[in-house]
Amino acid sequence: MIERQLERFNRLDLLGAPTALEKLDRLSAWLGREIYVKRDDCTPLALGGNKLRKLEYLAADALSKGADTLVTAGAIQSNHVRQTAALAARLGLGCVALLENPIGTDSLNYQQNGNRLLLDLFDAKVELVDNLDNADDQLQALAIRLHASGRKPYVVPIGGSNALGALGYVRAGLELATQIDHTGKQFAGVVLASGSAGTHSGLGLALASVMPQLPVIGVTVSRSDEDQRPKVQGLAERTAELLGVQVPGSFHVELWDEYFAPRYGEPNAGTLAAIRLLASHEGLLLDPVYTGKAMAGLLDGIARQRFDDGPLIFLHTGGAPALFAYPEVWNS
Ligand SMILES: Cc1ncc(COP(=O)(O)O)c(C=O)c1O
Repeated sequence: MIERQLERFNRLDLLGAPTALEKLDRLSAWLGREIYVKRDDCTPLALGGNKLRKLEYLAADALSKGADTLVTAGAIQSNHVRQTAALAARLGLGCVALLENPIGTDSLNYQQNGNRLLLDLFDAKVELVDNLDNADDQLQALAIRLHASGRKPYVVPIGGSNALGALGYVRAGLELATQIDHTGKQFAGVVLASGSAGTHSGLGLALASVMPQLPVIGVTVSRSDEDQRPKVQGLAERTAELLGVQVPGSFHVELWDEYFAPRYGEPNAGTLAAIRLLASHEGLLLDPVYTGKAMAGLLDGIARQRFDDGPLIFLHTGGAPALFAYPEVWNS
């Protein structure tokens, strides 16, 4: 049902093929538990990441509306802005981004290296703002300004996380379910980073529809459970409505919020340990803002027996370019 409804939406095929579901052999042996990773860090545009899936739907919508400029916002080190700017370049569109410095750091690496460096290569125009506390309004105001100067802007919300963007992760969830079927294994859960929520809502909706027993656990990267829950639930409801389906009774928002301290954009000791462990055991790069925190949650969840028995899947949503924005964190 959900598959058929999804087919009705316009999508640019930017992925080409499903991302791999791989077993991490050395980490699994070390942990005594099978760990698989869904490689959305390897989506095929500009160093990869989860946003391309959302942009397949959002950019199709932008083109159908005759837009000539993608407008979006995020942190200076936003992976979302990097992928949006790269896609604009690929499609021959302009890109204008509002950027904030959410941790107020003076670090030149944060301000100029990593994802930020790439924005210039993609020829994106950047406007620094004090904060993005009213991002939707700020983006609308920018769009009005661009329109007045003769452009045809299309607003991509922060993280690409509206109902249309979340369809990308409904599709990813169905793709993952097929891969899970092929393994013949009974998984104990899927763990992912939960930020602007489109990834969590979309994936959760799809898996609740086709694999209702499989827990989906979002590790928060910026908010408490109390603040994140309505975002994930609300977006899942709006996504289901857009699709014309009911939210399945088995859909349940599970959030672990013990791993994001001290705040968004700042790694903690557990984040760094998780990054080191995956790099040294698997040659797999996590990031200091999202996937390092989510993996820290997975590892701690195993240690504290928070999962049922069985193999686990980590959804790797990308972000490694931000490693180059945080070299100082490894010295302390
Ligand atoms: C690497 C990475 N992982 C996870 C996320 C979180 O995804 P979402 O914003 O859909 O919750 C982001 C979002 O920016 C990201 O860049």
